[in-house]
Amino acid sequence: MVAKGKIVWISGPAVRADGMSTAKMYETVEVGESKLIGEVIRLTGDIAFIQVYESTSGLKPGEPVTGTGQPLSVLLGPGIIGKIYDGIQRPLDEIAAKSGAYIGRGVMTSPVDMKKKYRFKPSVKKDDQVGPGSILGTVEETPLLTHRILVPPNHPGGKITDIASEGDYDIEHIVATTEKGGGEKVQLKMYHKWPVRKPRPYAERYDPTVPLVTGQRVIDTYFPIAKGGTGAIPGGFGTGKTVTLHQIAKWADSKVVVYIGCGERGNEMTEVLVEFPHLIDPRSGRPLMERTVLVANTSNMPVAAREASIYTGVTIAEYYRDMGYDVVLVADSTSRWAEALREMSGRLEEMPAEEGYPSYLASRLAEFYERAGRVRALGSPERAGSVTLVGAVSPSGADFTEPVTTHTIRFIKTFWALDTRLAYSRHYPSINWMQSYSGYLEDVSKWWKENVTGEWYNLRAESYHVLQREDTLKEIVRLLGPEALPDEEKLVLEVARMVKIGILQQNSFDKIDTYCSPQKQVKMVGLMVKFYKEAQKALKAGIPLADIRAMPIIPALLKSKFEIPEDQLNKFDELDRQINEQFHKAGAAGGEGAAAMTEKKEAEVIA
Ligand SMILES: Nc1ncnc2c1ncn2[C@@H]1O[C@H](COP(=O)(O)OP(=O)(O)OP(=O)(O)O)[C@@H](O)[C@H]1O
Ligand SMILES: [Mg+2]
Repeated sequence: MVAKGKIVWISGPAVRADGMSTAKMYETVEVGESKLIGEVIRLTGDIAFIQVYESTSGLKPGEPVTGTGQPLSVLLGPGIIGKIYDGIQRPLDEIAAKSGAYIGRGVMTSPVDMKKKYRFKPSVKKDDQVGPGSILGTVEETPLLTHRILVPPNHPGGKITDIASEGDYDIEHIVATTEKGGGEKVQLKMYHKWPVRKPRPYAERYDPTVPLVTGQRVIDTYFPIAKGGTGAIPGGFGTGKTVTLHQIAKWADSKVVVYIGCGERGNEMTEVLVEFPHLIDPRSGRPLMERTVLVANTSNMPVAAREASIYTGVTIAEYYRDMGYDVVLVADSTSRWAEALREMSGRLEEMPAEEGYPSYLASRLAEFYERAGRVRALGSPERAGSVTLVGAVSPSGADFTEPVTTHTIRFIKTFWALDTRLAYSRHYPSINWMQSYSGYLEDVSKWWKENVTGEWYNLRAESYHVLQREDTLKEIVRLLGPEALPDEEKLVLEVARMVKIGILQQNSFDKIDTYCSPQKQVKMVGLMVKFYKEAQKALKAGIPLADIRAMPIIPALLKSKFEIPEDQLNKFDELDRQINEQFHKAGAAGGEGAAAMTEKKEAEVIA
């Protein structure tokens, strides 16, 4: 029996209704005469607390509330890709067309075009046994994505009694009928619905051993994230969160991108709604939207929709995972989402915990990040898919001790700490290499060994060690100046400078540097490490540091990221040869050169 109650109290997006004893937790309800969409988020006796996804202005106590019997769900089927949705999967363009720039209330729209015809190609035949997750057939959803039509996860299983032949159908067309043990018949369309707050089931979870290759050196080489992994990118105002997330969306080796924009200020939304649809997929040259779903929350949308948006986004991501695809979901930023949670909680007069956030902030963040994973999907044929979750966090004043950042850290395994000082000095991406970490380093090293080179792990460690040593020397340098250091340590500073400029810094807007393949990354790091080792040997052999610093190989190494494109990586062999040659020459100049240099160095000191 559906619940039928009456509104007794309204506070912004929060509504209380009585007479709701038959309502269920998280049931979707229609609120008021204009049938606003709401969701039951707390039940006490026959009182339901409802969050309303639309503006409640004008709503009055006494108006009816009607249950739908259904939890808040998304429609999953062809037509999702390329769409821009609000937090409850209403297409923004259509809502705008129906009700002007602001989203009208009680506007019913379908998440996808139910009339559009797709060419369906069956992949099962009559009498085949199918079950949850089996692939019934495929349609070309966009030029970049083949949509695999799945048997819904809650299907009882059975034999195909009818399957549509290849042809053009809309998604309401019944493409398959199944029968279980001569009894129950189920008709299947090209779509099904799934509740957003319930993780979609899978057959088996795999270890996170495959890196998500982003083409960003500081990520892939120093703080990698695995496919199916979790990462957070906290940073103060203007430190590069959005640019980094765009780079991941564009370049990561994932098939589908789900981009959740939770913006407060106008310009943040402009980035999502205006810039994103114009991004080009660098590999295909086609619009990135042909493999992207956008979920956008603007400040004129009710906070409840923002709260729901991450669940809507992750459910869509899991659906494409179940097709056997790698999906990356980026949320910019989860702080805005947490603020929505805080506002709803305040409206419901719940007891606040730290900084006014509800006590369940941590468990909600955990529930979200737990939905990441690389899995074997349900059903046949056997296939693996992944959902990688990356959330930006925007703590005010770049204070990483605030609740959203500290709780997020508990549930993620890769942490890219953006640093206001680095951003200020135009070191981009401004990911602080001493504060950041990755829990996937060991897990992905086998992939590097098998696909790129077995040296990756050590090269990474050796170059990172230089950065660590520089960090400890910095304090001495600050107090006493670099001259107080022995040459061996001065060399550390020099090589650290080279690693920072030549490797860690990466310009997103440079045609060549914007993407750096794993192969190019190891070549660059390998040459830096080689240079360091040769220089250490040379110092021991009495070659003055000034000679080493003056070597033309240094600027050549620093420029290689801009000057050596992906299709000419053999040019690194030439740099390798130059390192040998220049150290050989310095060595051959021997004592005489060294003596001359000592004089020069003294002159330098005097100067
Ligand atoms: N990798 C990069 N390469 C070049 N420039 C960069 C890079 N990352 C950031 N920038 C520069 O920093 C600016 C701010 O970056 P971005 O908009 O991503 O910051 P944000 O952290 O998202 O800011 P907000 O707090 O306003 O959301 C960019 O417009 C760009 O000029
Ligand atoms: Mg931003």
